[in-house]
Amino acid sequence: MPAPILDARMQRYLIAHRVARLTTVDGAGQPSVVPICYATDGAVIYSALDAKPKRVAPTALRRVRNILTHPAVALVVDDYAEWWADLSHLIVRGTASLVAAGTAEHAAAIALLRDKYPQYAAMPIAEQPVIAIRPTTARFWAATPDAEEQGAEPARALDFDALVRGRRSVRAFRPDPVPRALIERVLDAARWAPSPHGRQPWRFAVITRPERKARLADAMGDTWQATLAMDNESPAVVARRLANSHARIHDAPVLILLCLYTADLDHYPDPDRQAAETTMAIQSLGAAAQTLLLTAYRLGLDGGWMCAPLFCPDTVRGALDLPPTLVPHALLPLGYAAKDPKRRPRLPLDDLIVHWD
Ligand SMILES: Cc1cc2nc3c(=O)[nH]c(=O)nc-3n(C[C@H](O)[C@H](O)[C@H](O)COP(=O)(O)O)c2cc1C
Repeated sequence: MPAPILDARMQRYLIAHRVARLTTVDGAGQPSVVPICYATDGAVIYSALDAKPKRVAPTALRRVRNILTHPAVALVVDDYAEWWADLSHLIVRGTASLVAAGTAEHAAAIALLRDKYPQYAAMPIAEQPVIAIRPTTARFWAATPDAEEQGAEPARALDFDALVRGRRSVRAFRPDPVPRALIERVLDAARWAPSPHGRQPWRFAVITRPERKARLADAMGDTWQATLAMDNESPAVVARRLANSHARIHDAPVLILLCLYTADLDHYPDPDRQAAETTMAIQSLGAAAQTLLLTAYRLGLDGGWMCAPLFCPDTVRGALDLPPTLVPHALLPLGYAAKDPKRRPRLPLDDLIVHWD
């Protein structure tokens, strides 16, 4: 059997990305390019004709006219980031055709597209033909070596230095949902963080449902409003801050609430050692969070950090029906960055090393 044109890494790259640029050519050799949503079964790339401009029949779209006269197409999927170690792209050349509604291939393609883009659920794409691109050549390029050999299948196939430097706090996300498998992998990695006595004094609450997010955001907002009023902030500032934090909680596709769980730790009769034991547990919470955020970044996700739960643990516990043994410490929103955030500069290393001999 000949090797597939799209190898496993290319397939994963296509699956992990949401938009491609499709180039077609007309009969006179004039190229045209459009961004497209697409899905793949691993061998063929499908794109729906959602016929957004209602006055144009889908088969009159330029890309469709071009394909019908000249089936050769090229497709680019890429990642751009100011951190150039993150650059990568996939270029596929192939032959495009229309697959008519009513065929098994069409039904399978529509299912793939609706699975990938929930937005398609309510759109009449099943009545239109779909574009099928059958690759003839494909070329993948990434600025840093693929970490796939380590068995990780990451969307950001970066070496460790690039991961550490590439991760950044993201505060605005695209609405795209995060696959459950990715969330599980992120949490699974956090288990490997160092912890006092290896007791893993952390628990995670995962929040994805909009009603739950709204309940959490409302409850935290009420508490925060009271605090800001105590600080004599102006009503305009209070309103703006509340709206921002509400949006951050509500608009993040996934929220991971990081909770401290001290029940399994050692217990001491004296308060000093007890306090040190708790501090150790909190320190390891940070290690778990960093492991989680780096893994998320490696898998193509982005994360942020909101310390607000620390200031209203009872409120958060109440909004999520959590037991009193859990102390909410941080909310880590996860998703796909809406835009590349500005990088926070770092202190020079010399400022941080205070003693070395
Ligand atoms: C304990 C802790 C609490 C944080 N709390 C918040 C927060 O409440 N809101 C926020 O936007 N970022 C918060 N951050 C994120 C920091 O602002 C961010 O990590 C820092 O500015 C460095 O930027 P970077 O993460 O993009 O490298 C917090 C980070 C830590 C470690």
